Amino acid sequence: MNARQATATAHPNIAFIKYWGNRDSRLRLPLTGSFSMNLAALETCTSVCFDEDLVADCFDLNGVEQGGESLTRVSRFLDQVRALAGQSVYARVSSANTFPSGAGIASSASAFAALALASAKAIGLALPEKDLSRLARLGSGSACRSVPTGFVEWLPGEDDAGSYAVTIAPPEYWDLVDMIVVVDPREKPVGSTAGHSLAQTSPLNSLRVAGVPARLESCRQAVLARDFSLLAEVVELDSNWMHAVMRTSNPPLVYWSVDTEVVLWHVQAWRAQGHALCASVDAGPNVHVIALAEEQAWAEERLRALPGVQRVMVSQPGEGARLVEQEVK
Ligand code: PMV
Repeated sequence: MNARQATATAHPNIAFIKYWGNRDSRLRLPLTGSFSMNLAALETCTSVCFDEDLVADCFDLNGVEQGGESLTRVSRFLDQVRALAGQSVYARVSSANTFPSGAGIASSASAFAALALASAKAIGLALPEKDLSRLARLGSGSACRSVPTGFVEWLPGEDDAGSYAVTIAPPEYWDLVDMIVVVDPREKPVGSTAGHSLAQTSPLNSLRVAGVPARLESCRQAVLARDFSLLAEVVELDSNWMHAVMRTSNPPLVYWSVDTEVVLWHVQAWRAQGHALCASVDAGPNVHVIALAEEQAWAEERLRALPGVQRVMVSQPGEGARLVEQEVK
């Protein structure tokens, strides 16, 4: 019976080149490719147990039983896993995060990467990494990037079969850190699933999309050559393009707060003084400050002292999704 249960962990990721907007929102086929780094210090751990006695799926997150949209999203995802396996049994899903949900830290990425691996294993599907990445993508686009290890590129593909993520370099390849500067830990009012559908309403969207292949190439090159100045330039440019599209959408999406701007302003100033730092912001107000590891102590102290900063979480590059051994009960 223990073959029906599995536990997996996965890390969230920070996109150096962003995913924003879908070509097909049902299949979460993105408008462009994207590139990210997994975050070792933050983790989701998820157990899935398929049980013939259940009359519906159930899901608890950080010990709190979930209903509504949160349960529906997990249950819809499990429907796809059941369809792949040709089974109809319901599951209990228990998940825990080591970091605040809904704070622009892409909890859905680690959540669906861990859920994809744990549910596939529990139901008896042996999927290669590429197919696990595709499966995770159906739950949350960026989740496909949390399946492979280290520095990862999502190949946008033409269809479901061709849209998955691959490792470009392992986590130990480059000693970078992500200092996640939390200025507001609250749930964001517009989640990314709703946000993606607004991208096409921005007159800047097609310009952003047209520039992504060149930025992806620079990013790949920067990581492979460990060229921090090239990385800093392309990471900030790409984050700014995404927020320009968000702000010019109809209705506009403005995720930055005054405190976000203060952090961004200081990161610019410190880089101008010669420090190897750059900033990127996802669908929330918090700022990811990417830096060479040797800058961490200096930068962390200064970031913590800025007005509006509530906490700073530091992460090294992380591994991909993996199974956790369990005791047989
Ligand atoms: O995977 P989603 O639907 O939560 O989208 C993530 C979108 C961003 O975090 C803003 C950008 C990215 O590439 O991670």
